[in-house]
Amino acid sequence: MIDGKNILVIGGATGIGKQIALDFAQEGNNVAVADINILKVNQMIKENGLEANISAFEVDASSWESVESLAQKVWAKLGKIQVLVYSAGITKRLKFKEIDWITWKRTMAVNLHGLFYSIKAMNPLIESGGSIVIIGSGSAITGSGGGIHYASSKGGAFGFMRSIVNDMGNNGININVVAPRVIESDMLDVLYPSVESKQQLIQEIPIRRLGKPTDISSIVKYLCREDAHYIHGQVLLLDGGRTYTGK
Ligand SMILES: NC(=O)c1ccc[n+]([C@@H]2O[C@H](COP(=O)([O-])OP(=O)(O)OC[C@H]3O[C@@H](n4cnc5c(N)ncnc54)[C@H](O)[C@@H]3O)[C@@H](O)[C@H]2O)c1
Repeated sequence: MIDGKNILVIGGATGIGKQIALDFAQEGNNVAVADINILKVNQMIKENGLEANISAFEVDASSWESVESLAQKVWAKLGKIQVLVYSAGITKRLKFKEIDWITWKRTMAVNLHGLFYSIKAMNPLIESGGSIVIIGSGSAITGSGGGIHYASSKGGAFGFMRSIVNDMGNNGININVVAPRVIESDMLDVLYPSVESKQQLIQEIPIRRLGKPTDISSIVKYLCREDAHYIHGQVLLLDGGRTYTGK
């Protein structure tokens, strides 16, 4: 259990990021949730009665100016932070011939550029002893997750994390990628919209169920504990065993 810390979750309006924000807030931390969908963030705070623990910030992670301005607002509200989670991400199911440059650019902008902007802008705010967790994807290993636009952006996140391990470690910050696959969320509904497609998918998962956002949030919280600080520069694949079946 971690409590009394300042946590920033970027991409925390829905799905995995939302669960991470709720878990940290319910354990008594001060959580800043930043997302392009501010309405959903406010709704989440209200529905869970967490007005005292969560503050909402609007950000477009794909814009440097927006992320820089977020850093100033988070500093003014919370001061130093101990945890940064980057969970913002987008995808669409598209074949190579269907991916136009606009989709390519937007996917890279949110999933990869936004990651760089966020860590660059928040770096001065993160206290030594703190943690960064990037929500990547097992698609960086297998390909797909919608298509090459998505898998490429998530592969970039692996390379980014591994390249920054020294800088962060020298500052006393552990950084890791949690790489989920097939977790119940809005994104999963985009890729597998029907009940039938989800049932078929479950047959490919050795543990015979879809992942839940709590399967991810529990590991994220663990990585941010003081006694987990030696876990640094790792990719943790959370996939119910699917990836190494070749699917
Ligand atoms: N659900 C899965 O099976 C799965 C598998 C592998 C990886 N992931 C990754 O997990 C992360 C969370 O996805 P999810 O499954 O919870 O889906 P989701 O769609 O519920 O969450 C994505 C969040 O990112 C936010 N977002 C999108 N564009 C943004 C922008 N420009 N600026 C700020 N916020 C923005 C959305 O509003 C949303 O709150 C993503 O990075 C995704 O790639 C999910």
